[in-house]
Amino acid sequence: MSDAATLNFQGKSIELPTFVGSENEVAVDIQELRNKTGMITFDDGYGNTGSCLSSITYIDGDAGILRYRGYPIEQLAEESTFVETAYLIVFGELPSAAELQRFRGQLTAHQFLHENLRHHYDGFPPNAHPMAILSAMINAASCFQPALMKLDDDESFTSQAARLMSQVRTIAAASYKKSIGEPMMYPRSDLRYTANFLHLLFSKPYAEYDPDPDVVRALDQIFILHADHEQNCSTSTVRMVGSSQANLWASVSAGVCALWGPLHGGANQAVIEMLTEIHKSGVKPEEFIARVKAKDSKARLMGFGHRVYKNFDPRAKILKAACDKVLNKLGVHDPLLDIAKKLEETALRDDYFVERKLYPNVDFYSGIIMRAIGIPLNMFTVLFAIGRIPGWIANWREVHLNPKARIYRPRQIYTGPTKRDYLPIGKRAT
Ligand code: ACO
Repeated sequence: MSDAATLNFQGKSIELPTFVGSENEVAVDIQELRNKTGMITFDDGYGNTGSCLSSITYIDGDAGILRYRGYPIEQLAEESTFVETAYLIVFGELPSAAELQRFRGQLTAHQFLHENLRHHYDGFPPNAHPMAILSAMINAASCFQPALMKLDDDESFTSQAARLMSQVRTIAAASYKKSIGEPMMYPRSDLRYTANFLHLLFSKPYAEYDPDPDVVRALDQIFILHADHEQNCSTSTVRMVGSSQANLWASVSAGVCALWGPLHGGANQAVIEMLTEIHKSGVKPEEFIARVKAKDSKARLMGFGHRVYKNFDPRAKILKAACDKVLNKLGVHDPLLDIAKKLEETALRDDYFVERKLYPNVDFYSGIIMRAIGIPLNMFTVLFAIGRIPGWIANWREVHLNPKARIYRPRQIYTGPTKRDYLPIGKRAT
C-alpha cells in the first residue's frame, strides 16, 4: 500500500501523507491541505473525520466490536466492576489490588459534598430536569475546589478524578431526592460505589435501603457498558471545551449538556416513553414500525441506529441478556419488554432497517432494566452520565497531556450573503 494519497484537482496534484492506527485503520492526514491548495474539507456532522489520536477506546462498527484500552467489553461486563473499569479507562491499565484499594479509598474520601452546596438545590424548581441540575452542580462543586484549576501532577489529577467520579454520584442522587421532596441522604463509607448510589437514591432517614446484590451487579454492569465510547457527541464536547484549557469540571459539565439530547444519552428516556405510548395506545409493533418508515414521518424508532455501529451494538446484546436475567430475578413482568422484543424482531426483518443497517443500540434495553430496579424515568440519562464520567475524564486528560495540543477550532464553508452595505432603518423595505 502506498503511504501517500494523491489528490488531483484543477490540473494540480498533491500528495497527502497517510498513517495507520494500531487496529489498521488508515487515515489521510489533511493538516497541510489548506496551506498547499487553499482548500478545506467538508464533512457535515463529522461522520468521516478523525478529530484526534486516542488510545482509550476502540470500536469496529461493522464487526460490532468495542474495547476499552484493548479489553473486550464482553469480558469487562462479565468479570470487572465499574470502579476497576473506570481505573482502567482513566489510567490506561487494570489496577493492582493495592492501586484499586487506594482508588476506592479516594472515592470514599471525596464522596461528601460541601455543606453549602446543599443550599444550591433550593434554587431549582421541583420539576427541574436532573440533567440540568447535574450540569449546574458539577460547575458549582468546582467552585469549592480552587486547586483543581491546576492539575499538573499525577497525584492531584488522581485525586480530582476520584473526587469528580464520587461527587457526581452524590449530586445526582441529591437532585432526585430534592425532586421528590425527600431529605438528601449522606453517602455511607462502608458501601461500594454502586451500592452506595442505590443507598443515596432509595434510603430514607428512617428506613435504610438494603440493595439486592443482583440489582447492584446489574447497575454496575450498566455503568461499565456506558463508561466510554470514543468520539461521541458528549465526549467530543468535553475534548472541545478542554482544548481551550478549561478545567476538568467545566469541561465535564458541558459534556452532561451534550449527553442530554434525545439523539444521544437522552434516548434511554425516549425509548421508555415510546414503549409506554405504544403500550397505552394499543398500537401494534408492526403498525408503529410502518409509521416510523412513512415518507414524511419525523418519528424514529428510538434506541435503534448508530452513527458508528452498522451491526449489532455489542452493549445492546449484553443488556438484552441482562434484562431477562434481572426481570426474572426480581419477579417483574414488564409488558414494555415484550413490546421492545417484538419491535426489534419486526425491525430486523424489515428492508427499511436492514438496508440502513439499523440495529438496537445501548439505549434500547438499558431503560427496561433501570425501570425494573425502580430508577425514575427522568434519572435514566443521569445514570448514563455517571457511567460516562471515566471516559470524559480520560479524554479530557488526553487533550491536557498532549504536548502538541491546539485549541479545537473547525472551519466552515460560508453560504450566507456576500458583501452588502448597511442601510439606515428608514431606507429599508417595509
Ligand atoms: N428510526 C428510523 N429511521 C432511522 C433511525 C431510527 N432510529 N435512525 C436512522 N434512521 C434512518 C434515517 O431516517 C436515515 O434514513 P434516510 O437515509 O432515508 O434519510 C438513515 O437511517 C440514516 O440516518 P442518519 O440520521 O443519517 O444517521 P446518523 O448516523 O446521523 O444518526 C442516530 C445516528 C442519531 C443514532 C440515529 O440512528 C437516531 O436518531 N437513532 C434514534 C435515537 C437513538 O437511539 N439515539 C441513541 C444513539 S446511541 C447513544 O448516543 C448512546
